[in-house]
Amino acid sequence: MWMKNYRFQRLGGGRLERIGIGFVSRVQMLELGGHKDRDAMHLIRRVRKERKSLLTANESFLVYSITRAQAKQPGVLAEVGVFEGASARIICEVKGDKELHLFDTFEGLPKSVAQDRGVHRENQYACSLDSVQEYLKDYDDVFLHKGLFPNSTDGLKEMKYSFVHFDVDLYESTLSCLEYFYPRMNCGGIMLSHDYSILAGVKTAFIEFLADKPEGLIELPTTQCMAIKL
Ligand SMILES: C[S@@+](CC[C@H](N)C(=O)[O-])C[C@H]1O[C@@H](n2cnc3c(N)ncnc32)[C@H](O)[C@@H]1O
Repeated sequence: MWMKNYRFQRLGGGRLERIGIGFVSRVQMLELGGHKDRDAMHLIRRVRKERKSLLTANESFLVYSITRAQAKQPGVLAEVGVFEGASARIICEVKGDKELHLFDTFEGLPKSVAQDRGVHRENQYACSLDSVQEYLKDYDDVFLHKGLFPNSTDGLKEMKYSFVHFDVDLYESTLSCLEYFYPRMNCGGIMLSHDYSILAGVKTAFIEFLADKPEGLIELPTTQCMAIKL
């Protein structure tokens, strides 16, 4: 039955998707602007102008709000799936003096598999590491890791995390994120993912991975989901 939810998958990745996100975000900004902090609204609006973002305004706000809370907890921060650095920039603005580790091929999406139902193209969302590095150059303790995740963690020192943001679109990439970060999350640490309710591969990976874990999946009213490490 849950397959019905994927009708929006058809929008996957193209110009149409960005027009749709832009329209939805403008409406959401009006609503959020009525009761949320002005600085947060300015930040989300500015980032949307500066970079292509695949997150709606509500989704960006959740990234902002969860990062702000989790930056007070022990552990470092990470994002897998950076593209042009829009969500990374939002994390940077509220991370304080925390380390932020950013993982991406910086050459776009890897190959998809059957679970992804043919929505995305290989190499879609390519953006160079240099471009993202330049965009985030004013923030301290930001580390970019280029390569196919999780191979890009080879040689990385062992760390514990308080917040990780996944925005990788694909089944195998999402499963790799969960397998790598789950044992490295501190108690109370949050794994937040984009696209859970609109991309079949992302949803399948979460359902399969959490099936034998004590953590419940929290589905948000956006396309996002999250799990809090017990
Ligand atoms: C939708 S984009 C991310 C959007 C971004 N968070 C934003 O602010 O709009 C998805 C990204 O995931 C990356 N990606 C997907 N699977 C990956 C993997 N296994 N390893 C590294 N990067 C991956 C792609 O290169 C692409 O940049």
